[in-house]
Amino acid sequence: MGHKLLSCFTFALLFTVACVDAQWSVIGSNPDAILPDGTTTWASEYNLATNKFRSLKLSTNTFCSAGAFFGNGTFLSAAGGEPTNIASNGYRGIRYFQPCQDSTCQIFEVPTLLSSPRCLPYNLYPFIHVIPNGIWQGYYFIFANKASVIYDIAKNVPVKALPDAPGGIRSYPCTAGATLLPLDYTNNYNPEFLVCGGQSVFNGFTNPAENTCARTDLGSPNPTWEADDFGGIPRVMPDVVQLADGYNVLFLNGGQVGQAGYITAGGNVLSDKPAFTPVLYNMNKPLGQRWTQLTPTTIARMYHSVATLITDGSVWVAGSNANQNPKLTGPYPTEYRVENYIPPYLSGNARPQITAFNNQTTLNASPIQVTYNEGVSITYTLTGTPGTITATIVQPGFHTHSQAMSMRLVHLQITDIASSGQNTYTAKVYMPPNKFILPPSPHYIFILNNGTPCTKAVWVLIG
Ligand SMILES: *[C@@H]1O[C@H](CO)[C@@H](O)[C@H](O)[C@H]1NC(C)=O
Ligand SMILES: *[C@@H]1O[C@H](CO)[C@@H](O)[C@H](O)[C@H]1NC(C)=O
Repeated sequence: MGHKLLSCFTFALLFTVACVDAQWSVIGSNPDAILPDGTTTWASEYNLATNKFRSLKLSTNTFCSAGAFFGNGTFLSAAGGEPTNIASNGYRGIRYFQPCQDSTCQIFEVPTLLSSPRCLPYNLYPFIHVIPNGIWQGYYFIFANKASVIYDIAKNVPVKALPDAPGGIRSYPCTAGATLLPLDYTNNYNPEFLVCGGQSVFNGFTNPAENTCARTDLGSPNPTWEADDFGGIPRVMPDVVQLADGYNVLFLNGGQVGQAGYITAGGNVLSDKPAFTPVLYNMNKPLGQRWTQLTPTTIARMYHSVATLITDGSVWVAGSNANQNPKLTGPYPTEYRVENYIPPYLSGNARPQITAFNNQTTLNASPIQVTYNEGVSITYTLTGTPGTITATIVQPGFHTHSQAMSMRLVHLQITDIASSGQNTYTAKVYMPPNKFILPPSPHYIFILNNGTPCTKAVWVLIG
């Protein structure tokens, strides 16, 4: 069984992550990797409870596609790559996936195609975010290489160019990782953007990766850049995960030299020296005190690795295949192992357990519909003396090529915390005010005790 992950999105609370894989191939016999019609597939749904996957039929090539959710919970996959021996041309592909809990849902490939093919060779994967609040509310922030603009969606024109970001090249194949930092009602959702890693030399296959970050305050009328280090480890192709606490951002995977791309036909690797040690960025600390190096893994995760926050507050890590096709020999063979990374915050304090949401006690069988500004009531249990109780809402995003499309975290105002029995509490939690702060999509709500997340987030839908 060969499996090379290109992208993943978390959709069904706690239980599943869905992945669009570049390719399956059958080595020996693994019945799970073959569809009932006898064909191999390159999409799968991964069950977090059983650690098993379910193959999904997918005919068009999703290589270098994009993904996002509609406000009704349906997932959209758009564009892709060239025809291959097992897939048809995906350049103009459109696909839908409606997540389900009973293992019956399938990908629907829409017969209508995009108006033009979408796949670019360089400066690929620009980082794009809807700017939440302040003077640029509802505009896009678009960043590629070192350049960035604020873009008026309604008028379809750029309105402000930022100065070049300090440091090296940040876009594919000199791939960096980036995120809109968590948004907080206490500062009126002031947006800040962080980009880390990459490579300063195009085709510098043995050149050290970028060991810097750049951060900008998009709430400013004239945003400028603050340069930072990257936790002491140069890194290209990092995976970026916003942790549930709303101030720590995890960077992991990737290599310490080179750039993204396949190993050449002659066997030359484009990136080397795996960056085994994850680094944690605390956005609230002063410059110079933000980074912590964490426990390293032993698994190299180079080109085509992914990582995503899952609903117990841990991080699901998978993939890596620097080869054009699945390959079990040579440097950086196709990686089949999945890891569950347990960030330090999970062991810090007693963990709340959410038992009811708006009096509903059946949680996570399907997303609970909520609306902007709504105050919901949440009941949770917590042993011992409670610390500071906070709440966050998270869209874990669509992960591919160090991109975390739509990944977003917003702090939720929490009031009226009251004891309602032994070790049981109720609280009122307020949804964000509008779609610019939190675009319509499925999300996960966490309650945290002194920054330690609840055992399972609640799956909701804001549409
Ligand atoms: C969600 O919205 C999309 C876009 O309008 C639509 O194609 C899809 O069928 C909708 N899904 C459901 C479950 O209604
Ligand atoms: C939950 O139940 C309480 C007690 O019956 C009731 O006062 C409250 O309105 C209910 N809340 C919701 C959101 O249904």
